[in-house]
Amino acid sequence: MTVQTPAKINLSLAVGPPRHDGYHPLVTVYQAVSLFDHVIATPAAPGEVTLEVDPSSPLPADVLAAVPTDDGNLAVRAARLLAERTGTTGGARLRLHKAIPVAAGLAGGSSDAAAALVACNRLWGTRLSRAELQVIAAELGSDVPFCLVGGTAIGHGRGERVSPLLARGPFHWVLAIDKQGLSTPMVYAELDRLREEPGREQPGREGVLPTTELDVPDALVNALRSGDVPALGRAMFNDLQPAALSLRPDLCEVLELRPAVHAHGALVSGSGPTCLFLAHGEHDADTISVGLVGGGLHAVHRVVGPVPGARVVEG
Ligand code: C5P
Repeated sequence: MTVQTPAKINLSLAVGPPRHDGYHPLVTVYQAVSLFDHVIATPAAPGEVTLEVDPSSPLPADVLAAVPTDDGNLAVRAARLLAERTGTTGGARLRLHKAIPVAAGLAGGSSDAAAALVACNRLWGTRLSRAELQVIAAELGSDVPFCLVGGTAIGHGRGERVSPLLARGPFHWVLAIDKQGLSTPMVYAELDRLREEPGREQPGREGVLPTTELDVPDALVNALRSGDVPALGRAMFNDLQPAALSLRPDLCEVLELRPAVHAHGALVSGSGPTCLFLAHGEHDADTISVGLVGGGLHAVHRVVGPVPGARVVEG
């Protein structure tokens, strides 16, 4: 049984002040893009859940070696939680073929968890509906429910409440991948710190002020609906970007390549450090990729969105 599961990007991300539970309320537009991990699930002894990382995965060996294979891996936790909730006696051996960069702002770990839910639900014949899987997904992490759904969707709450959004695709993106990951909790904490700093109301610093009205701008919704690439490029935003750039000022140079490579928009993806560039079509995506590599970036991926969420592709 093989499940394919996508990376996600955020086309908008409005973040409010932290809630009592430490999470930040947000409103985001997610899009699933054509960079996929695969989870292959085979039966194991009752109650046993194991995970191994496929060494032939197209990520550097040191990155693959650092992927946890125990309960520290969200996919393992997903399988165990599904077993607990359904009372199944099944066990599963999970093999993870990893192409989505780790700690990159692309929800790779969350997507693997979504894939494990879909794979084990089929393997064990537990027959939970998509809606029931969504409930378990929300417990596992804020981005996991979207990774189940895929496509283009608005996320509310801490990101876990998703509703589909009409988008005329395909949209062509170039992802600029960084060698080093960024920790999501650290980026949120940095945003809180920047928002508390004296002088935050000064001209040029407006980007770090807390958004009072968490919303998706009409211009973004309309651009997605009509497939208007330049308008989408103008409407995209990410409240976490100032925090990611504060922790990693070198990313400014990556975003500054936007006019030189003729991209319609450039944005940090989620909590970063991946930066996304919007292209007008396939040919422009090629030009942007070449421009970014020429600008010194070590890894770029051309992807399209929207694509489906975690789904069985074999078995
Ligand atoms: O939900 P998830 O476990 O993926 O979130 C990882 C971390 O990101 C949280 O522990 C929290 O620090 C931060 N986060 C947040 N507000 C959100 C989502 C995530 O503060 N809406």
